[in-house]
Amino acid sequence: MTDIQARINQLRDELNYHLYRYHTLDDPVISDVEYDKLFHELRRIEEDQPELITPDSPTQRVGSEPLDSFEKVTHLLPMTSLGNAFDDTDVKNWLDRVIRRLPDWYDVNDLEFVVEPKIDGLAVAMVYENGTLVQAATRGNGRVGENVTANIRTINVIPLSIPAEKEAVAPPERIEIRGEVYMPLNAFNAFNQQQLQKGERVYANPRNSAAGSLRQLDSKITAQRPLSFFAYAIGYVEGAEIRTHGEALDYMQALGHPLNPDILRTKNFDEVLSFIHEWMEKRDQLDYDADGAVIKINDLTLQKYLGVVGNTPRWAIAYKFPAQEATTKLLDIEVNVGRTGQVTPYAVLEPVNIGGVTVRQATLHNFEDIAKKDIRENDTVVVKRAGDVIPQVVKPILDLRSDDSPAYDPPKHCPCEHQTPLVQFGDEVAWFCTNALCPAQLIRQIEYFVSRPALNIEGFGSKIGEQVATANLVRDIADIYFLTREQLLSLEGFAEKKADKILAAIEISKQKPFDRVITGLGIRYVGSVVAMFLTQAFSDIFAMQKVTQAELETIDGIGPRIAESIVEWFSQPTNQAVILKLQKAGVTLNQSTQTIKNESQALAGLTFVVTGTLPTLNRSEAKSLIEQHGGKITGSVSKKTDYLLAGEKAGSKLSKAQSLNVSVITEEALNALITKGS
Ligand code: IVH
Repeated sequence: MTDIQARINQLRDELNYHLYRYHTLDDPVISDVEYDKLFHELRRIEEDQPELITPDSPTQRVGSEPLDSFEKVTHLLPMTSLGNAFDDTDVKNWLDRVIRRLPDWYDVNDLEFVVEPKIDGLAVAMVYENGTLVQAATRGNGRVGENVTANIRTINVIPLSIPAEKEAVAPPERIEIRGEVYMPLNAFNAFNQQQLQKGERVYANPRNSAAGSLRQLDSKITAQRPLSFFAYAIGYVEGAEIRTHGEALDYMQALGHPLNPDILRTKNFDEVLSFIHEWMEKRDQLDYDADGAVIKINDLTLQKYLGVVGNTPRWAIAYKFPAQEATTKLLDIEVNVGRTGQVTPYAVLEPVNIGGVTVRQATLHNFEDIAKKDIRENDTVVVKRAGDVIPQVVKPILDLRSDDSPAYDPPKHCPCEHQTPLVQFGDEVAWFCTNALCPAQLIRQIEYFVSRPALNIEGFGSKIGEQVATANLVRDIADIYFLTREQLLSLEGFAEKKADKILAAIEISKQKPFDRVITGLGIRYVGSVVAMFLTQAFSDIFAMQKVTQAELETIDGIGPRIAESIVEWFSQPTNQAVILKLQKAGVTLNQSTQTIKNESQALAGLTFVVTGTLPTLNRSEAKSLIEQHGGKITGSVSKKTDYLLAGEKAGSKLSKAQSLNVSVITEEALNALITKGS
């Protein structure tokens, strides 16, 4: 082997390993900067010698040449579907049927069950030969699916070569891993929001979005979609001995495939039922859509013996959760003006309880969608909610509509006092108010500027944003830094203590890193990720201001649309004035050269896991705080975890910590630990 080839192999192994640590274990061992360095070295070599590029190179995760159509793939073993149960009686009946069919050689007391969440995404089967991913196919009709290998390669949690951790186990000669590709809920909401802003297609739910994203002929598009994956079965394997489903799960995990963290293995059927009921309660707290739970018989020999009827196996059943839909009256269609001036409609509903949550509003996506579904005011409508997904109006019930009901007439003007006529750009479906002085936009801009992904100004909520904008104290986001105590005290509901607290929080925000400020500017298409790319490429905001669209497009992760929007934003005199004001206020407008130093060793030797929404810190802030004081962060709770740092909406990690007797602490308690130890 040449030296170059050896270096390529080494870089690929290392990069694959670090992707696995980062995405699958959520426990990186090197910094992003170090990762980028390795990645760029590999890319440089491959650019010089393109003949050395292989499809499993980590550089190929950005997607490859578009296809004309998907090739058909016949599954070696059919991908079956699952029978459904809708209540406890249905599942008990299923168990009775299993017991009745047990062979003589099987003792009923040996029955073991594995229960997994049923993820609402789409099933794929991936074949690895001698450790390399060679083919990935959708389920299709169960017998024949579509070859989506190039698209699957773009999903970061899916190893391109196994085992992901080289010394873990030897790669099997051939293995087919099956599992579910899905879109996490947070990512889905953000993605849809982005689509809406771009005037592109919004997806009805995370499943459609995952399916639509995976079935793109251009894998470069798939690469930009936030897809994830959980492995749930081995289709077949040569070169490894697997006797139970539990062993199959462990084996896939050892190879580097992500497993759902909430899987129950038990002999006790009551435990199966209570686990599922617990799940139904907490399904809203998860970052993925689960439409049920799958109960599987653990013993693979027994699975084989029980076999399949039609296309459903006897050895497994899906316990479907109740649908999260309800009908209610649509009282009014109102519009919301976003921070970029985009005007979007939403439905005001007669309050209705859906799956334990009272829903009063639902999204209507855009005016075109309203027309297509023919949704009208006063209609009785079907409303759907799933997990954290914003509730949506599915359709009107036409039979319940009165004959004289008029079709909905979309507004032609901005609802704010200026009544600016709305406009459309190019072939986008979205409508905009382009008035730079629109107070409705300003309120949203302030809201965004002070929010968590941006400057995270504690205590500065939407209401205050509205108050300072309406009172004309803030005319652009930079004015926030020039608010005085007297001005705040003149507002309703402000006493001295509250005013001082807000002023202190505003002061603290001046120290927030450069990329947070860029995020906060609210440039169209520039969220926290693109802001990071920008701040890595430019040392300060003034360098960013001078750059051309073509130069911006040379930056990884920035395409023509984003580049155009950035140049356009910086060219506006009103925005240039905002930058100068931010500079005057002392806000961070350059990349600090100071590297993270250890502040103390107060947390040395302690391992933390973070879950839920903390009162002031976001995830990366909590991580750097802990690391700066000598502590370590890992992704999942185990016996080795010292503390679970938990905030609101803590989910499965909290129950796991409780069951393992791991101490659960709040952000406040963490601060106390640090203060005590420093
Ligand atoms: S097992 C016979 N496990 O549900 C085994 N399926 O209706 C069949 N699904 O097409 C699959 N989560 O897309 C299994 N933990 C899980 C699952 C799961 C989601 C989906 C899968 C399949 C469908 C069956």
